[in-house]
Amino acid sequence: MAQVKRLAYIQIETEDVEAWTAFAREVLACEVAAGSGGREAWLRVDDRPWRIHLSTGPRNDIVALGLEADCIEDVEAIHARLAAAGHAVRTGGTEECAARCVQALRHFVDPAGLAVELSCGSLMRPQTPFHAPVAHGGFVTEQQGLGHVMLVAENVTETQRFYCDLLGFTVSDYVSTQDYGGRQGNFVFMRCNSRHHSVAIGYLPIGRRLGHLMLQVHEFDDVGRALDRVRRYGAPQTRALGRHINDHMFSFYVQSPSGAQIEYGWGGLEVEEDDNEVRTYDVTSAWGHQHLKV
Ligand SMILES: [Fe+2]
Repeated sequence: MAQVKRLAYIQIETEDVEAWTAFAREVLACEVAAGSGGREAWLRVDDRPWRIHLSTGPRNDIVALGLEADCIEDVEAIHARLAAAGHAVRTGGTEECAARCVQALRHFVDPAGLAVELSCGSLMRPQTPFHAPVAHGGFVTEQQGLGHVMLVAENVTETQRFYCDLLGFTVSDYVSTQDYGGRQGNFVFMRCNSRHHSVAIGYLPIGRRLGHLMLQVHEFDDVGRALDRVRRYGAPQTRALGRHINDHMFSFYVQSPSGAQIEYGWGGLEVEEDDNEVRTYDVTSAWGHQHLKV
């Protein structure tokens, strides 16, 4: 069955593109792509032209989730499946494809109301390799995609079925906890490649769709160095260092200028192809990850 294979990019609308760009460069070690500035910016974490797009606006939230399939045949098959299930799908035009540096593009909306884009054939620019603004071992992307997102939805089950039944995601596990920063949290974690999850969904009363974006680094010490940069920069750390119980990610969380948290992690679990057991946990972390007051 044709399916989504990776998280490709995310688009974020923020009231202050300049502040977000500075945070991404100084704290996250993203490369700011040429042409950024003013009301728009493009951030790199690998050899692709960009992975995070920032635009100016009042929403302070994710405005589009970019997913990708392997080839145009798979994009067309997923398009047909969505249409057959009654979902409106629009084919992106030449200019839209060019802006995203992809060969083909489809637009649709998930049951939680989030704009989703499906593409294939992303431009690669190994001739201008990712160049972090600080000494850095780079980010884990390639076949595992950009990283993962935790999306906030009121209709978690309906949204999960959409991602699994129509886009081809597989449930890795569930976390149902009585103490997620002092409140109940129910999350479902879904994968579309070996990365334990590319999309997680849960409901949190935070007033935005993007709970967090996780960026994974190759080198253990880059998590510690990033935490040093958080402290030096004065960015609000929102969760302490810890290790997640399901994807084993060693990470901390920091708040971005648009409010969404960024998880900065190392050592994420890669799920074996024949591991189809769906588990449930009652805590998010084996240790650490305490919610910090900001
Ligand atoms: Fe995460």
